[in-house]
Parts: sequence; structure tokens; C-alpha cells
Amino acid sequence: MKYKLAVLPGDGVGPELMNEEVKVLEALGKRFGHVFDLKYGLIGGIAIDKEGTALSEDTLDMCRQSDAVTMIAVGGPKWDNPQAKVRPEDGLLALRKGLGLFANIRPVFTYEELVDATPLKTNIVRGTDMIVIRELTGGLYFGRPKRQWTTTRGRRAVDSMSYSEQEIERIVRVGFELAGKRRKKVTSVDKANVLQSSRLWRQVTAEVARDYPDIALDNMLVDTCAMRLIQKPTYFDVIVTENTFGDILTDEASVLAGSMGMLPSASLAGVPSEGKKILGFYEPIHGSAPDIAGQNKANPIASVLSLAMMCRYSLGLSQEGKVIEDVVSAVLKEGYRTPDVMSEGKIPVGTKEMGDILAKKIMESK
Ligand code: IPM
Ligand code: MG
Repeated sequence: MKYKLAVLPGDGVGPELMNEEVKVLEALGKRFGHVFDLKYGLIGGIAIDKEGTALSEDTLDMCRQSDAVTMIAVGGPKWDNPQAKVRPEDGLLALRKGLGLFANIRPVFTYEELVDATPLKTNIVRGTDMIVIRELTGGLYFGRPKRQWTTTRGRRAVDSMSYSEQEIERIVRVGFELAGKRRKKVTSVDKANVLQSSRLWRQVTAEVARDYPDIALDNMLVDTCAMRLIQKPTYFDVIVTENTFGDILTDEASVLAGSMGMLPSASLAGVPSEGKKILGFYEPIHGSAPDIAGQNKANPIASVLSLAMMCRYSLGLSQEGKVIEDVVSAVLKEGYRTPDVMSEGKIPVGTKEMGDILAKKIMESK
């Protein structure tokens, strides 16, 4: 089969990690007889420099016409001026809104091999395996009014946390659908003791839950969830939450994996279900890491694992997705480590070497 992919390397370590991702994709194509038709585009700081905007209409159109979009990260100190009219992050937000990517899926898992790489106690993180589903096109990020102005008594600013029942329903459904294939437990996270939007969230979630009688639902306040995540991460199977809560909780949860360089993410324009292909956007959860850019130090595993998610949700290639994940596990078992997860007695490798090993193993996979 032939698949059309939009490839957006972005800033910082983006280009070098994308090279490794493409290496792995090509190996996958050869091994399984697929053709990946790659179209490159600019996003973020590099797009601001070269095209005057963080995401051009042309690039957005190219993404719309693809089966899936893969990106690494945007941003860097060069574009960090708070007075700037356009920021690299604007490109990411425009892409989320422009493609209708309302469902952000962030798996958080701890490999047994990396259990010592986290700053938390081994017995707490061991066995962590959850998916955080973050609503991505609503809430404080996009709600109106959203502005800053000057009054006679000084400056003021407002952001709005606003949700419709339709927005809540579709994201909560993603949670129940994915939980059905896992340990059948959904934790819906809100702040219903204070916020109106959270009270609606809780009502709609209870209504959706009626369609899934075999799945357990619990509601948790976001502050409690922040505590539980590091106190007993194995408690969680699938977490569903609104945009800002999800942003904050997933950075916290990423610590459980030992390195941000290990975790992938997917952002989908539909509710995933068996055999359905959905337009999706795939990226590692880490940022553009400008401090190590161009030094062959960055860990390509997170972006390679995001390819596995792409295979599963957008290309209908579950078997290929599983091969990628198995190969990553094998490489960790054999002891290969990029600097972010290096420990005594392991085999140090750089970005390129890690990519080579992963691609080779995919070619050799059964
Ligand atoms: C994320 C990031 C983005 C967000 C930034 C870069 C706009 O933190 O994907 O979690 O806040 O959504
Ligand atoms: Mg974030």
C-alpha cells in the first residue's frame, strides 16, 4: 500500500530526529512492502524565518491531504521574545485547530529497563502503564473572550475555559473506546468543586458512561490527580481531561518514564475504533531541546514510538506498529542507551547509531 505522509521536522533537534524517524519508516516500508510518500513542510521558528508565519496555508493544506502528519518539535530561544507578534507555538496551535485534532493521546509507561532512570522510588514507578487523553482544541487555549486590555485602574487580561457538551462527549468517548482495549478503567479528571465547565464535564461523562457498562468510571479532582500520579501511578489506566489540566498533568506524568525522550503522542481528528483510519498528527512529547541540537545526543525513541501510534490509528497497520514497539523494547534490553537514559554498564550510543540499530532490527524482524 501507499501512504501519504506530511513530514514537519520543526526546530532544534527536530531535523536530526526526523532523519532517524525516516530511516525507521523506510526500513518498515522495505520490510512490509509499503510505500511512504513523504512531503516535507516547515513549522515553528524555521517557518517564521523562511515564510513569515509559523504555519503557512500551503503547509496546512498539505497536511489535510495526507493520511497522517509527523512532527518533532517547535520553538527555541531565538523566537522567545514575549513581545513577538508570532511565536513558533502558534504553528502548533493552528495545526491542531486547522485539522480538528481534538483528541491528544499521551501514553505514559515505564520500561523495566529504565525504572532506575526516574527520580522516584522504583517500587512506585514500576509497572506504570497509562494513557492520558487530553482535549486539545477547546478550554483555556481557544475559549473566547481571550485578550489583554487597559482600564482606568490598570491592565487586565482574560482567558475563558469554555466547553460545549459535544466537545466533552467526543473526547470522553475516546477514553472509553481506548479503555475497552485495555484494563477497562476510565478516570475523568476535572475541578467540579469549583468550575462550571467541570460540572458539565462530569454530567456529560456520566451520560457517555452508560454506553459502556463494562468500563469502570471514576471522577477525580485535578489537584488530587496531580498527587496520585506520583504517589500511586499504577492506579491509572485511562485518564481523560480537558486541555490545560492535560497539559500540566502529562508533563508531570512524563517523569514516570525516566526521560521525556521515551514518550510518544498522537493527536486525532476522530474517535478511534477497530479498523477505522483517522487523520492524525504524531509527535514525541519532548520539546525542541535547542541546548543539545546538532550534537547527536537526542533520543530518537519517542519519535520512533510515535510512528507506531501512527501505524495503529491513521494507517490501519497494527502489526507494523507492534513491530516498532517490540524493536524498541529489544534495543533497551540489549543495553543501548542515548545520554538522557545512560547508566553504568550500558552501551552509550548517539542519535544516529540508535536510529541505525532500530532500522536494522526492523529489517530483521519476523
Ligand atoms: C504541549 C506543549 C504545547 C501546549 C505548547 C508548546 C503550546 O506544552 O504540547 O504540551 O501547551 O499544548
Ligand atoms: Mg505541554
